[in-house]
Amino acid sequence: MRRYSRITGTGSYLPPRRLTNADLVAELGQRGIETSDEWIVERTGIRARHFAAPDVACSDLGLEAARHALQAADLQPTDIDLIIVATSTPDMVFPSTACILQNKLGANGCPAFDVQAVCSGFVYALTVADAMIQSGAASRALVVGSEVFSRILDFNDRTTCVLFGDGAGAVVLEASDTPGILSSDLHADGKHVGILCVPGNVSGGQVLGDPVLKMDGQAVFKLAVGVLEKAAHAVLAKAGLAEADIDWLIPHQANIRIMQSTARKLKLPMDKVVVTVDQHGNTSAASIPLALDHGVRTGQVQKGQTLLLEGVGGGFTWGAVLLKL
Ligand code: UT7
Repeated sequence: MRRYSRITGTGSYLPPRRLTNADLVAELGQRGIETSDEWIVERTGIRARHFAAPDVACSDLGLEAARHALQAADLQPTDIDLIIVATSTPDMVFPSTACILQNKLGANGCPAFDVQAVCSGFVYALTVADAMIQSGAASRALVVGSEVFSRILDFNDRTTCVLFGDGAGAVVLEASDTPGILSSDLHADGKHVGILCVPGNVSGGQVLGDPVLKMDGQAVFKLAVGVLEKAAHAVLAKAGLAEADIDWLIPHQANIRIMQSTARKLKLPMDKVVVTVDQHGNTSAASIPLALDHGVRTGQVQKGQTLLLEGVGGGFTWGAVLLKL
């Protein structure tokens, strides 16, 4: 009998400090940076985001999300035999945030590692966990997307600092006789490294280069709308399904205009798209599991439905996962 993987629990966590556009506009105004609620809403759909307190790390946000996902799956931390954390804002250069999270959770002993694919990180991590479960290397995986992007923003750059937020989402993925994850499709094209990056690095005991986020928004936008459609059609073809079989599109939450464009291309009405970008901003690798958990906990997304998860981000990376919940 074929071995599949299936999501048995979801969880998420947002740090308590919430900034509306008005709050951020006022803070930026004190630095002499001009922006407005109108510009942010019209160009991105974002109305608010959450920022973690200075003493809160990526692993702390991931830990809360993981606990909620374990509770939903009715499992204990010691039941988990694989931990993958997708993040671009790790606690340390090394060890991985997954190891730090594992220890905080009390799941010591199982393999734990990070996946770095920026905003596509969660679909990458889910695909790796699925492959490890299918192969028999793991049976109960915890897959987490967690980010503290507020730490890598340049608050003097209005073209980027209004876009991002902090948060975490998690799923428990278990071995199953029935699918589960139906298909996935991952890609990267390293020639676009420069359009979305944090170019700094640690060397000789110092930070070299610029350790804040740089983005050519228009270039990212154009690439994103093209590749997301291709990845969606690729996972549908691999699973032998059609656009009309999708119950929910749960895309990376970067910009409502990108999400509307993808929905249009897949002939899906917007009421089949889980949207959290308005309240969370862009939380990079955390955005898809945050949106998934939001959908599940509000009762919109239900067991047995077919979900299309899609990510796109720095690298340039992109990918999709089609699954039955
Ligand atoms: O998570 C990874 C994936 N990331 C993405 O998917 C992001 C993709 N890109 C985008 O979402 C959009 O390109 C942005 C939201 C980043 C920008 O929207 P846009 O419609 O492409 O705006 P733009 O960059 O063309 O800028 C338009 C104008 C410019 O002024 P001029 O040159 O027309 O006078 C900017 O200087 O808006 C100005 N502007 C702002 N004005 C007020 C840029 N940022 C701001 C701001 N407030 N915060």
